[in-house]
Amino acid sequence: MFPIRRNRRLRTNEAIRSLVRETIIAPNDFLVPLFVVEGKGKKEEIASMPNYYRYSLDLLKDEVKLIWNLGLKSVLLFIKVDDVLKDNKGTEALNPNGLMQRAIKTVKDVCPGMLVMTDVALDPFSSYGHDGIVEGGKIINDATVEVLAEMSISHAQAGADFVAPSDMMDGRIIGIREGLDQSNFLDVGIMSYSAKYASAFYGPFRDALDSAPVDMIDVPKDKKTYQMDFANRDEAIRETEMDINEGADIVMVKPGLCYLDIVRDIKNSFEIPIAVYQVSGEYAMLKAAAEKGWLNHDAVMLEQVTSIKRAGADIIASYFAKDVVKLLNR
Ligand code: PBG
Repeated sequence: MFPIRRNRRLRTNEAIRSLVRETIIAPNDFLVPLFVVEGKGKKEEIASMPNYYRYSLDLLKDEVKLIWNLGLKSVLLFIKVDDVLKDNKGTEALNPNGLMQRAIKTVKDVCPGMLVMTDVALDPFSSYGHDGIVEGGKIINDATVEVLAEMSISHAQAGADFVAPSDMMDGRIIGIREGLDQSNFLDVGIMSYSAKYASAFYGPFRDALDSAPVDMIDVPKDKKTYQMDFANRDEAIRETEMDINEGADIVMVKPGLCYLDIVRDIKNSFEIPIAVYQVSGEYAMLKAAAEKGWLNHDAVMLEQVTSIKRAGADIIASYFAKDVVKLLNR
């Protein structure tokens, strides 16, 4: 008698569903992005990222303890740089007493076990809002890579465990690896934003750090000469393969949800940990829909992060990390 196999048997109740569930979300999956700002007693909500904040160093301490107590063990640091400190070459990025360097030390002071990853790119430091040095209307690749390598060494000196170059210059992974090795930071790892697309989903992040490309003559209006065209798939494999060969320890696909085909391609092509960045615009979309009562926030959030892991992500960088873990603990 047909059907002999009734697939619904495995869906009869939560007990059997949980027994055959293929993807389980846990605190260990997450990397928590943190925004840091100069000053004291500051906890500033980001307008386009409801319930997400920039912290001054004193309040960052409490936030880091809270994150650790929730079972989250890795953070990814970003800083908002004062306008007066910005220039074309990202000089402030190399300041041994800069905000990023102090942020790294602050996290390690309050929570030595916390894994600290740092964003490596020029844009928060750039007076033009670009990830590289601008010259004659172009982003100069090799001179930028030199700054990125120095920046990585500076983060390592401050105590970073991993540097995470998010700039998409060619050859930056080997440049950074050589820089770190020559300075004897053999154990400092590189999480490379390998397949990073030129995406409109980064809008809220650029609000958070005031880092959008400026509107000036001779300054490119967008990042399309270095970040990838979102129409491309094979190119993601090429980019990722090169980063692995140059020494990346972890590779990344970014943004998340619209790019899960890329995540699966990379998962099937290489044996290396893959991170996926569920970016600011993805966060903003769900928050906005939930605020209007159009989507069930927690249910959709869990479905989204589970889908990212199911696609092949080993690590999920997400502004939802705390929300997810609180939900799991309930
Ligand atoms: C900067 C950087 C960006 C993001 C992470 N690092 C923005 C950009 O490339 O313009 C985006 C993160 C997000 O949207 O959540 N190199």
